[in-house]
Amino acid sequence: MAAPDRGAKWLRLCALLLGLLPLVLLLGCTLEQYPQSAMHPRSDYAIWLQDLLEGLVFWVVLIFVLVEGALIVAVIRFRARPGMPDPKPVHGHTGLEIAWTIAPALILAAVAVPTVATVFKTQSKAPAGALQVEVIGHQWWWEFRYPEYQITTANELHVPVGRTVSVSLATADVIHSFWFPAMGGKRDVVPARTNHMWFTPNSTGEFPGQCAELCGISHANMRMKLFVRTPEEFDAWVVAQRAGPAEPDTLSTEARGKQVFMTAGCVACHTINGVSNGVLGPNLTHVGGRSTIAAALFDNTPHELGKWIADPPARKPGTSMLKLPMSPDQLADLVAYLTSLK
Ligand code: CUA
Repeated sequence: MAAPDRGAKWLRLCALLLGLLPLVLLLGCTLEQYPQSAMHPRSDYAIWLQDLLEGLVFWVVLIFVLVEGALIVAVIRFRARPGMPDPKPVHGHTGLEIAWTIAPALILAAVAVPTVATVFKTQSKAPAGALQVEVIGHQWWWEFRYPEYQITTANELHVPVGRTVSVSLATADVIHSFWFPAMGGKRDVVPARTNHMWFTPNSTGEFPGQCAELCGISHANMRMKLFVRTPEEFDAWVVAQRAGPAEPDTLSTEARGKQVFMTAGCVACHTINGVSNGVLGPNLTHVGGRSTIAAALFDNTPHELGKWIADPPARKPGTSMLKLPMSPDQLADLVAYLTSLK
């Protein structure tokens, strides 16, 4: 009888290790390692979700321990032994029937009350004085407009710490979903209607975001970045964004690049304030000042920018940005011009 015993022991050990695995994995989670984790709230909205989750997990764990504990006790204490009489049936026991009807009802209430309260809180109207941002989802990039400052930018959202950001969500094409995990829950961006959400960032930093609704072949490539800055830094950013685009010196590489921009076809889709009026692609007035390109897919370096412009569909499947014919020299000039647009 030694062999089956050893087998059962191994099975129990494996089950225990397997059960501990998620805990061990979770212990390793930090914001630095997993910046897109929803477990590191950095706004009021995200903290409400975290509190709700922790409350629910508490009840779930408590119920699990009580139920499994009772089960284990029953299995061990009441297991069949030789010579034992049949157990007394409890069918029709009024006290038990009432208890196991009321207990789940109380548990459901304990889950439902905070959940519904959080739903109402996160769907309420933004407080007065919030920073208004219009978000427009495109396949596959994000447009951000600040009506208060007449700024239009793309993929990188700048906000001041401590001020509520009130976001209106619209789409130019299909359904997307706006999600900065550190700032709160996902909110869908739906055709023919405008959704709203708001959050108040509580600490400065850079936070990644991601479209969270399958919206086509480059859904996974529809990323964005949030920059939470001090109010002074944000004001400086606003001043810089409101300024016109950098104007290259005559006969410079950048001036030749601007010529390429005007003639190669870029102007059909892109706006540079005072230079062109395309609306299909991101506004490039200050593209050189962004940290990333192509919806936060690549770092904004001359090398990456050159590779991106040389063949957009190869780097981002399905993108409507065309591969425009231009010589290597023209490409280098264009990259120099765009990079100069800080
Ligand atoms: Cu937009 Cu997924």
